[in-house]
This record gives sequence, C-alpha cells and structure tokens, in this order.
Amino acid sequence: MRSCSLRRSSFTPFARRSGVLRLRRRPRSRAHSELARTGAVGSVALALFACGGDVRIAREDATHVAPAAPTHIDSWPEPSRRLSPASVPAEARRLDIAPIARTGPPPPTYHQDVAPIFATRCVTCHDEGGIAPFSLRAYDAAAAQAESIAWVVEHHIMPPWPAAPTDGCEPLRDSRRLTDAEVALVVGWAAAGAPEGDADTAAPIVPGTEPRFTRSAEAVSAEPYEVAPGADQLRCFVVDPGLDQDRFLTAFRVRVDRSEVVHHLMLQAIDDAGQEELILARDRDDPAPGYACDEGGLGGSTRGLVVWAQGDRTRRWPEPTGLRVTAHRKLVLQIHYHPIDVSVLDRTAVELELEARVAREGEMRSLSVAGSPLPPRERDVEVVASGRPTREGPIVVHGVRAHMHQLGARARIEVVRDGTPRCLLDIPDWQFEWQLFYDLARPFVMEETDELRVTCAYDTTSRIEPVGWGTSSDEEMCIGYVYVTVP
Ligand code: HEC
Repeated sequence: MRSCSLRRSSFTPFARRSGVLRLRRRPRSRAHSELARTGAVGSVALALFACGGDVRIAREDATHVAPAAPTHIDSWPEPSRRLSPASVPAEARRLDIAPIARTGPPPPTYHQDVAPIFATRCVTCHDEGGIAPFSLRAYDAAAAQAESIAWVVEHHIMPPWPAAPTDGCEPLRDSRRLTDAEVALVVGWAAAGAPEGDADTAAPIVPGTEPRFTRSAEAVSAEPYEVAPGADQLRCFVVDPGLDQDRFLTAFRVRVDRSEVVHHLMLQAIDDAGQEELILARDRDDPAPGYACDEGGLGGSTRGLVVWAQGDRTRRWPEPTGLRVTAHRKLVLQIHYHPIDVSVLDRTAVELELEARVAREGEMRSLSVAGSPLPPRERDVEVVASGRPTREGPIVVHGVRAHMHQLGARARIEVVRDGTPRCLLDIPDWQFEWQLFYDLARPFVMEETDELRVTCAYDTTSRIEPVGWGTSSDEEMCIGYVYVTVP
C-alpha cells in the first residue's frame, strides 16, 4: 500500500479542531483527498497529495489529530424512551413487539420526513457522478451513512455554507444552511435507527430551484488539454467571445467536461489591447494548449468575471445588473486542475448569458491586506484592511466573498459607519475548500463616508517561518470581494 503524509495545514480548521480526519478516497478511483476544494481566487497549487489508502500524519500533527469516527453528538434530541425489559409485558417481550415499548411521537422516517430534505439540499452534490463521495438519492445509501449524516448536519458542516447564521449580519440569499427544524428531523431520524417509513405514502419531493438560464448565447471553451498525472496545476486558456460591441454578463453556467480533474476555475476579462498582447505572448511561449499560469499570474492585468467552484451551478448576478465584457477583447479562462493517476483530456467550457444592456453595471471590487509577514506559531493572528470607496457618492453592495488560503481561521467583512461596524459576512470557522460567493438578501447601500473593513485571522501554529503574502499555496492572502453597482 502506498502511503503519504499530510502537512497539518492540509486540514480544514474544522478538522484540525475537532480532531476528525476527513480524508477519503473518491469513488471513480480518484486517489486524492477531498480536503482541498476551493474557489480560491488566485490561489495556486494546493500542494496536496495524490496518494492511495494509507495516511500518515506528520509527527508534528500526531498529537493534534486523532483520526476518529464522528461519534459524539452534542445535543441529540431525547431518544424515545424505552421501557426497561422488566416493565415490558411478558407477551410483548415474547413477541418482540418493540414499538409498544416506545412513548412519545413516532420518530421521523426516511420517506415521510427526511427524503425531501435530502432531495432539495443534498443531491445537487450527493448523486451518482456528483462531486460528493456518495449518493443520497436512495434509502439504503442514506441509511448506511445515517450516523455521519446526523453529525455533519448537526454541526452545519453540510450542506457546505460556512457563513454564520444571520445573527447581527445582513441576511444572505438562498442560504444552504438547514433550519433548526430540518436538523431536528435528520438527527431524530438517525437517532431512531434510520427508519425507512412507508414508500407508498412518501412525502412529495419538490426539486430544488436553480436560477433560470435563458440565453445560452455564447460559450467560451478551453482548448482540449491533456491533464497528466502529477501535482496540481493552473492552466490558462485565451478565449474569444467574438464581440463587436460591449455586452453584459448577467448569468453563467460552467460546463465541466472531466469533473474528476477540474477543481475550480475563473474567467477574467482583458480590457486593454496592451495587456492582451502580454498575455498572448505568454500563451505563444508555451507549446502545449493554453499556458501554465502557476507562477507569475496571468501575465497581464485582468478583471474578474466568473469564479466557479465545484458544487456551484448556474450563477445569476442580481437583476438588473451585469458585468461588462469588452468588445474586440479576449478573455482568460484559468482552470485549476487536480490530476488523477491516469491522463485525461479535458475540454471545459463556460456558457455566458450576455445582454446588450443592463440597467446597472456591476463591478467586482476588492480590498486586500499586504504588508509585514504573519508571525509563525500563533494560534490566532488577526489582520485588518479598511478602505473607502474610490468614487464619490454611494455604492450598492449586492454580494460578498472572502478569500484566504490554508491557514485561514475566520473572516469577516463589515461596513463601518460613524465608528459602528455593520456586518455583511461572517465566517467564524474558515473552510478552505468552500470559498463561496454570498448574495445579500437585500442590497446594502454604502455611503461615501462609510468604510469597508475586512478582517482575517490565521492559525500559524504549523509554521516555523514567518508567512508572507502572495498567491502561492505556502503564502497567505486576505481579500474581501464586494459585487457593487452605482445607484
Ligand atoms: C455543494 C455540494 C454539497 C452539498 C449541497 C452537500 N454536500 Fe455533503 N459533501 C460534499 C463533498 C464534496 C463531500 C466530501 C468532502 C468533505 O468531506 O468535506 C461531502 C461529504 C459529506 C459527508 C461525509 C463527511 C465525512 O467526512 O465523513 C456527509 C455525511 C455528507 N456530505 C452529508 C451531506 C448531507 C446530509 C447534505 C444535505 C443536507 C449534504 N451533504 C450536502 C458536498 C456537498
């Protein structure tokens, strides 16, 4: 059996803290860890591990990580009380009529209570060929996982949605977070031994809603590229939307070709002919399709249009807004590949819904921290960036996203007005693999005198050297993104 070791920083903060080692082999012979999913903007090679079954923890970690099955659950609902054998009537005991020995309401069952939750909240990822390690479409598969399902659901690890509940923060749209009532049903079902219930009277399953995608007008596609076994890589492809007039990107859908190797991707606009020339020169220098962009970024300055991570589906920018795509200019499609143990030919594409005009032009603004390196061996190092909008007058914030690398512990994006912070996004337990973009339920108007504040905190206990700022995986980043329009 092959073995490999993991650096401590490879674990999610959650896994580090809880001591639960969440490492599994993918079905479809995908021999790598699931721990490193990200939609990281500019984050490079995750330096993870293509390794088989056995996992050895680096000595440094041995005391921190006790690979353990998720066994304890903090707040199980009181299980239906069973009568002690002595108090069960003799004939019941003889006939083994267990249900008579229960009190209280019947436990939730799969068909009556739990299946509708799984169908809308889980199977987008947990399906045959989906990105998650097992399907939650059928009773048997769900029942087999009941204990770990209860645990991840109760701790809000699943569905992935690291943003804290709305306490004190602006409410978010289309939250994936399960309600307390849904959690109680799933946990109660597992606690009762995952009863199947009656398939004939199953509760109706309402399919989840996905944003509509009307015009699949333009599709920009990477050249077919052979992803050979080896380390993670960033590959950039120059693509041409072929526009003679500026258009506006209102929605996009990513058509992943080989999902076993495509980890996350970004589509960037090049607005300037000079920058385009620099990028094309980079492309020409690399003989294979596209060019390697692990080092030195894209080769020219660009503007973000699309960030996509596995588990995302169609994304629609809030109506009536859209991001400008410049006429006669090309785009760069940057794909983070996570190779497997055989070569695969990938041709991933992004479908773009482009409109001739939108009522408000959207813009992705960012605020980031740079400066002195982070000190090593600290459990909680906090950095803060703050800044005022560079234009005069108010701007409207529609959505937010935070970005850090693997040492990230928590992140917060706020607007400070007259010294008082108003929270837009709070991620108290950073999950490197789930760097989601969050839409605000209500647009937030930022006044000219308001300040945007981004706070990131890191756990550097795994490092012995100061940690610098940069795009590579052993460096760190702290960026807050806001999707804004001018009212
Ligand atoms: C956006 C995609 C997505 C959604 C939605 C989602 N999952 Fe997952 N789930 C994953 C991925 C990917 C993994 C494997 C990686 C990991 O363990 O973090 C996973 C792992 C799991 C695991 C195994 C955890 C472990 O490490 O033992 C369980 C149990 C689980 N999911 C249950 C659920 C349930 C129940 C729901 C719905 C209430 C759900 N998931 C919704 C993507 C998703």
